[in-house]
Amino acid sequence: MKSDFIWMNGELVPAAQALVPVLSPTLHYGLGAFEGIRCYATPTGSMVFRLQDHMQRLIASSHIMGVRTFPYSQQELCEAALATIRKNKFTSCYIRPLLYMDGPLGLNLDVSEPKVAIATWEWGTYLGADALEAGVHMMVSSYTRHHINATMTKSKITGNYVNSVMAKTLALRSGYDEAIMLDPEGYLAECSGENIFLVRNGEIYLPGRATILEGITRDSLYKLARDAGYTVHEGQISRDQLYIADEVFVCGTAAEVTPVRAIDHRTVGAGRRGPVTKALQDAFFETVNGKGKRSAEWLSKV
Ligand SMILES: Cc1ncc(COP(=O)(O)O)c(C=O)c1O
Repeated sequence: MKSDFIWMNGELVPAAQALVPVLSPTLHYGLGAFEGIRCYATPTGSMVFRLQDHMQRLIASSHIMGVRTFPYSQQELCEAALATIRKNKFTSCYIRPLLYMDGPLGLNLDVSEPKVAIATWEWGTYLGADALEAGVHMMVSSYTRHHINATMTKSKITGNYVNSVMAKTLALRSGYDEAIMLDPEGYLAECSGENIFLVRNGEIYLPGRATILEGITRDSLYKLARDAGYTVHEGQISRDQLYIADEVFVCGTAAEVTPVRAIDHRTVGAGRRGPVTKALQDAFFETVNGKGKRSAEWLSKV
């Protein structure tokens, strides 16, 4: 995760100087919000995928958490992210904006001040180099995804990720690649850091938005699937519907579009990347590489 310069509250500083105090309320209580964004090297230069939407979600996450005033506009955040990529001379990279709270410890947001840092680093495939083709083996986790009125599922609040880390760690220690989590009612929600899609008889099924993070990759694939003429259903999905799907794939900024070859030791479909997954994966990579119909709409030039 090498990054020479980090943007901190309006300035690009050497990474070693981008520090927060040990007594930061963010460190003690998980009071922060973050984003994960990718910049791709395309034939016409480096491009950031859906930058404005990610920065809008960062502002929304902090609003959901209860921060009264976000210290920067969406436009300022986008410009800061682009400046950070340029300063680090990356052609492709991952971008991590973080809102953190600066001030005295206490269970009260109003006594600390929101601050922002943006880091960038080079990052390859998230679930392994061959996962994009061979697929991954997932476990339905014994950890439940957050109840919608416990922590707020529409926001990338840092504290929410303890649930993801516990599920992912248990999956890895148990020999799986990633965890699928059910909502408190037992319906399919999402993964530790990805949303999930099912395919059955050529049609696409997605868990509803109530208990999940509204992933920007999910939204992109939803739109690309509609563009390609697929029927897309959104609603409650049970665990056994996962087992009898023809295809399952997960998606997110980190995982991009990754096929699932097995769930809980049950082979999914043919046990390899299926045709709908391949079609949407191709459409996604075409788009992020600047060659898709929606590329102009979704890419920002560095
Ligand atoms: C819990 C969770 N679900 C889904 C996603 C996918 O969201 P996106 O496609 O916006 O990266 C992420 C990653 O940000 C996540 O952390």
